[in-house]
Amino acid sequence: MSGRLNGKVTLITGAGSGIGKAITHLFAAEGSSIGLMDIDQSGFNLLTEDIKKIGVEFITVEGDVSNIADCKNAVETCAKTFGKIDILVNSAGVTPRNAPKEWGFEKTWDWVVDVNLKGTVMMSKFASEIMKRNRLGSIVNLSSILGIVGYSEDISSDGFSPYTHSKGGVVQFTRDMAVQFAKDNIRVNALCPGFTYTPQTKRLTDDDEMKKKLESLHPMGRLGKPDEIAKAALFLASDESSFVTGACLPVDGGYTAK
Ligand SMILES: NC(=O)c1ccc[n+]([C@@H]2O[C@H](COP(=O)([O-])OP(=O)(O)OC[C@H]3O[C@@H](n4cnc5c(N)ncnc54)[C@H](O)[C@@H]3O)[C@@H](O)[C@H]2O)c1
Repeated sequence: MSGRLNGKVTLITGAGSGIGKAITHLFAAEGSSIGLMDIDQSGFNLLTEDIKKIGVEFITVEGDVSNIADCKNAVETCAKTFGKIDILVNSAGVTPRNAPKEWGFEKTWDWVVDVNLKGTVMMSKFASEIMKRNRLGSIVNLSSILGIVGYSEDISSDGFSPYTHSKGGVVQFTRDMAVQFAKDNIRVNALCPGFTYTPQTKRLTDDDEMKKKLESLHPMGRLGKPDEIAKAALFLASDESSFVTGACLPVDGGYTAK
């Protein structure tokens, strides 16, 4: 099999759903061995069947990216199985929209920032230690358009959404890490997707009025598809972007160009 990621080993968090799942499919099809990490293993059933058909090696690891021991375990298990980690994709993420209502502001804020920002930082910390041994690595973080701009006034938000706080943190973490790790030949970039059809946005896109509103906020007049985000992740993860680091790439149908 010849592919753009032949011989590479990728560890992907949030691999069982949405964008992480699309990235897992594409990277496997491009020849990478894959470590799939998710807090919820239910999404792995059909996905691992597909990967078996593609024929690349893979492992699954259950873990919570907001738990430092789970992050360490996922990285160590992947490195022990495959002997290295070339690529880390931090796709695990949550939104306050999907938090239990009874949690209230503080618990919801902690949850979102812990998963989206602390999780990205912890996974990158442990994976970069492995990458440094080979002086080779590419980290792709999932930020968001909402890591670059505030919520549109057309979408209800009170200015205290931990989603924007966490995704803005991911942008700045990406830039800082890119500068610090360039000497180790580890590139660090982020994707900033617009609203994309996944389980994370299902409650919004199932509502026809909200869906139309969201579409109108993207100059291309539609929302993104997970495989469109995966293709951009492939560029940033692969050697094709060998002179790109610290970039935060909008994949958003023009949302942030307005
Ligand atoms: N869908 C969008 O519109 C959109 C837009 C911009 C950015 N993003 C970001 O892209 C990433 C993927 O989002 P998605 O839409 O595919 O979401 P999704 O809900 O479909 O998938 C997220 C995955 O992360 C896993 N996960 C959640 N908490 C976890 C934890 N603590 N530890 C490990 N795994 C955990 C979930 O089980 C799920 O499999 C997220 O970081 C999200 O914020 C999504």
